[in-house]
Amino acid sequence: MTNAHALKTVVFPVAGKGTRFRPATLATPKELLPLVAKPLLQFAIEEAVMAGAEKLIFVSSELKPGIAAYLSHPGVTADCDVVVVNQEKALGLGHAVLCAREHVQDDSFGVILPDDQIFGPVGCLAQMAAARGESNANMIAVEPVAREDTNRYGIIDPANHRGRLVKAKGIVEKPMPQDAPSELAVVGRYILDAGIFERLADQSAGSGGEIQLTDALARDIERQGLEGYRFNGQRYDCGTPSGMLDATIAFARASGDLCQSLERSLSYAA
Ligand code: UTP
Repeated sequence: MTNAHALKTVVFPVAGKGTRFRPATLATPKELLPLVAKPLLQFAIEEAVMAGAEKLIFVSSELKPGIAAYLSHPGVTADCDVVVVNQEKALGLGHAVLCAREHVQDDSFGVILPDDQIFGPVGCLAQMAAARGESNANMIAVEPVAREDTNRYGIIDPANHRGRLVKAKGIVEKPMPQDAPSELAVVGRYILDAGIFERLADQSAGSGGEIQLTDALARDIERQGLEGYRFNGQRYDCGTPSGMLDATIAFARASGDLCQSLERSLSYAA
């Protein structure tokens, strides 16, 4: 893949509370939990670099000093410029992205949520950057989910499909299955036009009492447009123990030595 449409700046919101992964997250930030020996955050950094990132902005929390400590180790952020900003209170993903505003100098920037782990032939964000090309529409990674699960995701209202691209005419956060406009769910990769900051700045709290990025994207559709991108890869929700277990097994299966250990363990268990 060429880097003709490289993304220079990527934002990593990592200030969430991680309540679904307690008690582990009482000691270790969710984003530093590993797949075997590699933290989720490291996979996310490598995906950003693969998409062309030169500047990495981490929106963290004073309650999670381990994140900045991890980033201070030589080599973990390649040769990128690194900025760590503080989200004083976990007011929601939209608010976390807004915290990065003064450090985003480009017209477009990427966002990676490290707890959504995606394995594929090419990094998801690089796929999206290539598909977006010269467009300045906001873009979100989407995948089909079971109808009964729509209330766990942002769900798009598709207008039309062109290959992997799905033009959206609406998007709603966590709709009940009977109200969901489709079964295409937003997962944790975005390429946003910097104009989104204006929407986020006056965005009121939505689902769960949080400032939702989804709500700001919905308000931006008329001005900016919104494209879903059906990525090539397998996503694991590593924000939950079961998703983390699935991702760990998938990761082990794909790695030589670990695959042998996995087969050995499974044969003991059989
Ligand atoms: P989640 O929605 O998974 O929230 O955030 P969470 O608070 O971390 O997890 P639970 O629900 O309590 O278990 C998705 C991503 O957005 C970040 C998180 O750190 C995670 O990377 N986030 C979320 C923030 O940075 N700030 C927020 O206010 C909320």
